[in-house]
Amino acid sequence: MERPEAAARLIIICGLPGSGKTTLAKALESKLHAVRLCPDEWLDALSINLRREDLRGKIEALQWKLAQDLLALGATVIIEWGTWARSERDALRLGARELGAAVELHYVSAPAEILFERLQRRGRESPPVKREDLSRWMDIFQAPAPEETALFDEHQLPDEVCGRAG
Ligand SMILES: Nc1ncnc2c1ncn2[C@@H]1O[C@H](COP(=O)(O)OP(=O)(O)OP(=O)(O)O)[C@@H](O)[C@H]1O
Ligand SMILES: [Mg+2]
Repeated sequence: MERPEAAARLIIICGLPGSGKTTLAKALESKLHAVRLCPDEWLDALSINLRREDLRGKIEALQWKLAQDLLALGATVIIEWGTWARSERDALRLGARELGAAVELHYVSAPAEILFERLQRRGRESPPVKREDLSRWMDIFQAPAPEETALFDEHQLPDEVCGRAG
């Protein structure tokens, strides 16, 4: 019998707010029959403000526990938390590999002006994201460098297949 972990795959979608993580994650979810874990949706379902970073952290911890259980069962799991720090992505990659899962990293990005314009148009955050918030976040965000990207498995589906310009 095929070992369940043979098909297990973790897909990490990394990027700043407005970069298109959820858009890409939803496309991959349907094409790959994956389970998508999005903290914003859980915060919304619990009527919690999206800017409550303390509770977001707790929800991410719950989602990571669930992700590991699903990977152990051989599922494809999509995590779209943002994962701004290389250390966060390292922890997810190593944890998933310990379970015998393949791990993909998808990085989505756009210039600050475009991110800001998208966030304004979406109008979801309260209080709204300010232009200076975005500049500060861009300074903090650790974009994956080629030596990090090389540590991950090949993408099963290129992002372009999901209708993204790239
Ligand atoms: N490639 C793209 N080109 C143009 N618009 C896009 C693209 N990707 C996403 N968008 C639009 O930008 C907005 C933000 O996208 P999305 O919600 O997917 O970003 P996100 O990274 O999940 O943001 P957050 O971190 O705030 O959840 C949405 O209105 C979406 O329709
Ligand atoms: Mg999102």
